[in-house]
Amino acid sequence: MKQTYFPFEFVSKYKNYCGKEWGDFFSAIKVKQPKSFWINAKKSNPSEIESFLKTKSIPFKKYPFSEYAYFIDYKRPGDLVIFKKGKISMQAKAAMLPVLALNPTKKDYVLDACAAPGMKTIQLSNMAKEVVAVDVNSTRIKSLLHNKFAYDLKNVEIRRNDVRNIKEKFDKIMLDAPCSSEGLVRKRKEALKDWNKQLVQRKAKAQKDLILSCFDMLKPNGEMIYSTCSFAQEENEDIINFLLEKRDAKILPIQFEGIKIRENRQCPGCVRLWPQDNDTQQFFIAKIRKL
Ligand SMILES: C[S@@+](CC[C@H](N)C(=O)[O-])C[C@H]1O[C@@H](n2cnc3c(N)ncnc32)[C@H](O)[C@@H]1O
Repeated sequence: MKQTYFPFEFVSKYKNYCGKEWGDFFSAIKVKQPKSFWINAKKSNPSEIESFLKTKSIPFKKYPFSEYAYFIDYKRPGDLVIFKKGKISMQAKAAMLPVLALNPTKKDYVLDACAAPGMKTIQLSNMAKEVVAVDVNSTRIKSLLHNKFAYDLKNVEIRRNDVRNIKEKFDKIMLDAPCSSEGLVRKRKEALKDWNKQLVQRKAKAQKDLILSCFDMLKPNGEMIYSTCSFAQEENEDIINFLLEKRDAKILPIQFEGIKIRENRQCPGCVRLWPQDNDTQQFFIAKIRKL
C-alpha cells in the first residue's frame, strides 16, 4: 500500500510544534479519515435518512454537534440513491464545523466568500435566508453550479468573481480561505507533495488581503468565520492578529458539543482541531465580530 508523503521540512516543523504529542499527531494524519455526511434540509430530513440506512443495514451514527451531521460506515456512499438524489452531501466532519460556528438564521444575508466546490454552501443555504456564493476559479465554479441544482439551493446566487470586487454588505460571512491544505493529507496521501515554506508564505499573504476585504463587507455588528484546513500559525493565528491590528474586531468564543477544541496562546478564542482529538483533519476556526 502507498505510504503518506511527508516533506522533511513538514516533519521537522510539526515535530517541533507538537512537542510530546508529535507521535499521536503523525499517527492520526497518516490514516484516512472516517466518512461522514450532511443531510440536505432542502430535500430531506434526519428521520427519512435514518430509515433508509436502517433498511439497507448500513451502520451510521449521528454526531452530537448537529442533527444533520452523521458518520457512515460504507465503502461507496456515492452509489447510494440518497446521495444521487441530493439528499445527503459527503463532507468531512471538521469541515462541517465552521458553518455551525457562524450559525446563520433565516434572517441573514450571507456571503460564502471562497465557496467552491460548495460543500459549505449547502449548509449555509439550509440555514440562511439568502447566500451569495463567490469563487474566482472558473473550473471550480462548475461544482458550485452542480451543487445549486443537485441540492435544490434556490436561495443561493452564484458569482464567478474575485471576492475582493464584491460591493454589498452582509450580515454574516464565511471565509473558508485558500490555504496550504495541510489537512487534506487524511484524504489524499500525496496532498503534501507541493508543500513548502514558500507556499505557506504565499497563502498567508493572500489570506491577509482576503480577511480585510471580507471584514469590510460586514454590516456593523456583523459576524464572520475565518477557517482553513492548515495547521500553520502563519495562515491562522497570525492572520487573525493582523486583522485585529488593522480593524475594530472582536473574537467570539466557539464550542461544539462532543468536540474537543484547543487554543494557541497567540490568539485566545481561536480554535484548533487537532487530528488525534476528534479523529478529524487539521482545522482552524475563528469567529469574528465587527464592532
Ligand atoms: C478552501 S477552498 C473553499 C472550499 C469551500 N468553502 C467548500 O467548503 O467547499 C478555497 C477556494 O477559494 C477560492 N479563491 C481563492 N482566491 C479567491 C478570491 N480572491 N476570490 C474568490 N475566491 C477565491 C479558490 O478558487 C477555492 O475554490
